[in-house]
Amino acid sequence: MAVSITLSIDGSCCGEFQQLCRLEPKLSHKPRKHFGWLRINDRQLLNCKCFWHISESRNLKNLKPRDLSSHFSYCKDAAEYSSLSESNSVEPEKRQDRIGTGALKSVTKNKNLVPNSQFAQPDGLPPLVSALKASAKQNAASFHFPGHNRGRAAPSSLTQLIGLRPFTHDLPELPELGNLYSPEGPILEAQKQAAKLFGALETWFLVGGTTCGIQAAIMGTCSPGDYLILPRNSHMSAISAMVLSGAIPKYIIPEYNCEWDIAGGVIPSQVEKAIQELEKDGQKAAAVFVTSPTYHGICSNLSEISQLCHLNKIPLIVDEAHGAHLGFHPQLPFSALQQGADLAVQSTHKVLCSLTQSSMLHISGNIVDRERICRCLQTLQSSSPSNLLLASLDAARAQLNENPEAIFNEALDLATESKNLIKNIPGISVFDSSSFPNFPAIEPLRLTFGFWQLGLSGYEADEMLYRDQMIICELVGIQSITFAVNLGTCREHIQRLVSGIKQVSSTSLPVGNFVKSVEHSALAPFTDINISLNPRDAFFSSKRKVGIRQSLGKICGELICPYPPGIPVMIPGEIITERALDYLLHIKSSTKGASTVIGGASDPSLSTIIICDL
Ligand SMILES: Cc1ncc(COP(=O)(O)O)c(C=O)c1O
Repeated sequence: MAVSITLSIDGSCCGEFQQLCRLEPKLSHKPRKHFGWLRINDRQLLNCKCFWHISESRNLKNLKPRDLSSHFSYCKDAAEYSSLSESNSVEPEKRQDRIGTGALKSVTKNKNLVPNSQFAQPDGLPPLVSALKASAKQNAASFHFPGHNRGRAAPSSLTQLIGLRPFTHDLPELPELGNLYSPEGPILEAQKQAAKLFGALETWFLVGGTTCGIQAAIMGTCSPGDYLILPRNSHMSAISAMVLSGAIPKYIIPEYNCEWDIAGGVIPSQVEKAIQELEKDGQKAAAVFVTSPTYHGICSNLSEISQLCHLNKIPLIVDEAHGAHLGFHPQLPFSALQQGADLAVQSTHKVLCSLTQSSMLHISGNIVDRERICRCLQTLQSSSPSNLLLASLDAARAQLNENPEAIFNEALDLATESKNLIKNIPGISVFDSSSFPNFPAIEPLRLTFGFWQLGLSGYEADEMLYRDQMIICELVGIQSITFAVNLGTCREHIQRLVSGIKQVSSTSLPVGNFVKSVEHSALAPFTDINISLNPRDAFFSSKRKVGIRQSLGKICGELICPYPPGIPVMIPGEIITERALDYLLHIKSSTKGASTVIGGASDPSLSTIIICDL
């Protein structure tokens, strides 16, 4: 549908804006003084909805309601911002400000609006950080938890390591801090500011990682017996979410690159096929779940997937654990919300800078029942969420907000520089989009290098890098190693990485002597899945332990998942096949002494396995 929307944006930014939003060159763009207009169709609108404020619109009635609701809420934010930031020196009545996610907001004077100033902190700190600071300063006679009593009884072994301050700020849900499950005051304001920055209708702070956000998103959309469309290589939290919700999996088998031993993301036609297959059986999916980016940084075309989902009135949940930074730089792919996802869960602690275990769940549009998501989060999370974790989310948001357009400049430059240097090292392969041409982007801060031309597995190369250079990677695979570049990455570490890889190359077999073979793979998605019980029934059925070889043909009773990367090889309820067993034994033998653990297995030595006793 080609709906024409007229947008008012700063004329001088039109070019950059087009680039940001990846608009086609044919757009009509009429700069007039400080203002310009772009004519776009509704698909483009969906792609770039977080980047502007609609000041004039035509044919709005032709837009889908979910588009309208998010645009109107965004307009309201812009107006509120104006009342705070009005400057007498700026003319005309409408002026353009550049804030947020590189957003171009048309700021309109509106004296009737209540400014956001009630939340402005006198100390200039983010709201929850400021409240925590004030609360910790009180000379309180504390008769409340935690038992270390604001550090007075903190164990000295730990204070020697981290000092007293983390303890003095480790405060419970005091009235001045607010409650995560009926938020008001600083927690509510911190979540609101996060929603604004990330372009969500609402944001929830999570203290159980993205794991609990994924579980809440799936429980919040799928009831027992409902179908969930998801890739077979989903993170184990999606599998546990099916146990919790009673959802039945309809798996998509992702593309697999055997040279790299890496699985891809999800292609829109795979989602379409899954929806159609369910329809043929008289079923309808309650939700579609996609991981984007993957651990290796592969991004799916969420824009098309979300359109497909919405055509069928199915909510799209995106596991964006590795993508909290997306959309914050023209070189970075768009975020899930920018591409129309209904729920996006981000590990703020992975690429951004909050404390480990802290994540965010964002909601957009009006398909998903927000009340149900609230109830799920309350069911899944601690009744004593750590204010340190929550404040770290607020602080990470504020850090990003300070300079959203340039904050990733250096990290992106360092990542590009290292890739350029490493691709010239003999025997090293650099993972890029040519290995997965069906996907729109590889996240540029995730660097994956292959060592097979040197006759080395990823595990062997990793051991050398650690032993000789004290280089610690994010993820090791049979064929490759993945390194995460972030805001803390410095030039000295990049130089160490480059010289470490040079050393691996110069001390290994000459290039060309290696016979490549990836018969078994930890990551290869299975094509011969045979589901006998749904994950929930399998989880609750009676079980028994058998020798690993005796388990062949039986129904698996446990989730077995090598970690990293956290992709299940066997899922409760599936028939155990020879191939799956071979995979597991191969991973175990090839990772001896390495940091990979076989998660979920009741017997980590894999001599025995639990099966459903039916
Ligand atoms: C793709 C993916 N999804 C979800 C998770 C879970 O995230 P968290 O550790 O924040 O619970 C991970 C963790 O590694 C992951 O890789």
